[in-house]
Amino acid sequence: MKIIVTDTPSQAFEQAADMIAAEIRASSTPVLGLATGRTMESIYRILVRQHEAGTLDFSSTTSFNLDEYAGLPATDPNSYHRYMHERLFAHVNMPARGIHVPDGVAPDLDAECAGYENAIRTANGIGLQLLGIGETGHIGFNEPPSAFDSRTRVVKLDAITRRQNSSMFDNDPEQVPSHALTMGVGTILEARRLLLVAVGAGKADIIDKALNGPVSEAISATAVRLHDNATIILDKASSAVW
Ligand code: GLP
Repeated sequence: MKIIVTDTPSQAFEQAADMIAAEIRASSTPVLGLATGRTMESIYRILVRQHEAGTLDFSSTTSFNLDEYAGLPATDPNSYHRYMHERLFAHVNMPARGIHVPDGVAPDLDAECAGYENAIRTANGIGLQLLGIGETGHIGFNEPPSAFDSRTRVVKLDAITRRQNSSMFDNDPEQVPSHALTMGVGTILEARRLLLVAVGAGKADIIDKALNGPVSEAISATAVRLHDNATIILDKASSAVW
């Protein structure tokens, strides 16, 4: 596991974007695993800038997002479909057929999850999986406890997560959907490379637990330590305890 600590959050975002851009350039058929959340917004902004400058071509890229809220259609302003469209997909030349985000309103959510696993397999697996970390230590929406061999499935969101993500929902945790579809920890661990990014003092505690605590299904992010090609990019503030 490689841990990079930068002085500022923007340096962390730049380094993460550089790794993603390198992955895209290195393969004729790059497959990215993408994440959402505030941390990722700046990273996508950098990638869009590179694309607009003509230095990054997404035309042969396939992507799989980690998760989506159950019950939110793609058109909902708080859906991860919409998040990804607004921050990345609408601004780059990734072919629509290559974009995958779990469908939160599929008639059969379990079948949707199984189909998602199949689609990842058909694409030959994920080359680089981008990850953030939630206050509960979740990666994707793998709330504690999540088995390290768990697959894409419907999960119940932790009260802490609903509070953490409520800024997008009138600051009302009750308005945050109670369930989500997420790649499993096992699905994530099968990516050929992992890239976890965290910035800010608010993440210092959970980063400490994720990196120094016992590897345990009680904190999904500790699974990253089991992967043999994982990079963690932190800024000084999020690495303070570590
Ligand atoms: C959501 C996503 C996670 C993400 C987390 C962190 O819960 N499902 O994949 O890691 O947010 O978000 P932020 O970057 O806003 O702290």
